[in-house]
Amino acid sequence: MKINGKEYRTIWFEKNIVKIIDQTKLPHQFVIKDLKTVKDVINAIKTMEVRGAPLIGATAAYGLVLAILENNDQSFLKKSAEDLIKSRPTAINLKWAVDRMINKLSGVNSEKILDIALNEAKKICEEDIKFCENIGLNGLKIIEEIYNKKKDTVNILTHCNAGWLATINWGTATSPIYHAHKKGIPVHVWADETRPRNQGANLTSYELNEEGIKNTIIADNTGGILMQRGEVDMCIVGTDRTLANGDVCNKIGTYLKALAAHDNKIPFYVALPSSTIDWNIKDHKEIPIEERNSEELSTIEGFDSDGNLKKIQIYPKKSKAMNLAFDVTPAKYVTGLITEKGICQASTEGLKKLFK
Ligand code: MRU
Repeated sequence: MKINGKEYRTIWFEKNIVKIIDQTKLPHQFVIKDLKTVKDVINAIKTMEVRGAPLIGATAAYGLVLAILENNDQSFLKKSAEDLIKSRPTAINLKWAVDRMINKLSGVNSEKILDIALNEAKKICEEDIKFCENIGLNGLKIIEEIYNKKKDTVNILTHCNAGWLATINWGTATSPIYHAHKKGIPVHVWADETRPRNQGANLTSYELNEEGIKNTIIADNTGGILMQRGEVDMCIVGTDRTLANGDVCNKIGTYLKALAAHDNKIPFYVALPSSTIDWNIKDHKEIPIEERNSEELSTIEGFDSDGNLKKIQIYPKKSKAMNLAFDVTPAKYVTGLITEKGICQASTEGLKKLFK
């Protein structure tokens, strides 16, 4: 998608270097960062220079390419894979991508391993783009249906950033929105700010602006009253891990939006590529929920009037703060899952129909 009118992807490989858009600098600065070692990749994932479930998976895949370039040795590759998986715990795509790379590379001799690894990392990216595009085409039908009934702007609420910046291109939750916009359907997005890191304000609103899509940032607690007032036609969010029973783990606060949507009979959709499905965990309590540094809550960054980036303390210094990064929305609150293969019920039967 576009930034300043120029087409970008979130990640690419050039002259043995992984190039990323440093998302910690957005929306104020557009910085392309070079990752040269697997350590750089682990750091980029941990500090959220790259974030969003599909993108961290793809970045980890390239991390293994860099590992091979650094030290073409099986034990280094194995250790790198383990460290990459540990870099963020909740999004299953990370483990999915690393496992896929390791499976592909097992038993490959050292002369061929680099080419095969690079090819597979590129394939993961290309597949993600195709899957996200299909999610968009499938989700478009829902937006179209609402528009055909309403004959007026479709108001869509989303949480966090499940946009193209969280994937390689298109996004998951945003892909139906981009497709609707391209088709001339008037859409307006309510972008939850998404404290504490503000991915909704800093990334979702930013990327929608760059594509010319109308949007309004709202504080995280505003969605409920907008739903009561009839100002939300549907919700679409992303997911970091979808269980086989249809439970959805996504950015903290998603659950509360789903409850409000349920109470107001507003459709609540979750968009995901199949790489986000965890077929193994049976109970959502087993999902490792990331707890991040509480400084992300107690401090805030922004530009002062002289254009200098400043970090300031906003909480009482003595107060304790807790920063859980994800929550789980039970399947019963999910209207449907929008996947690359079609839309299904958030249930074992629904998912099995699409993914045998
Ligand atoms: O902590 P983040 O910014 O990585 O969280 C991202 C989300 O919660 C997204 O909704 C999710 O990864 C889906 S991205 C298509």
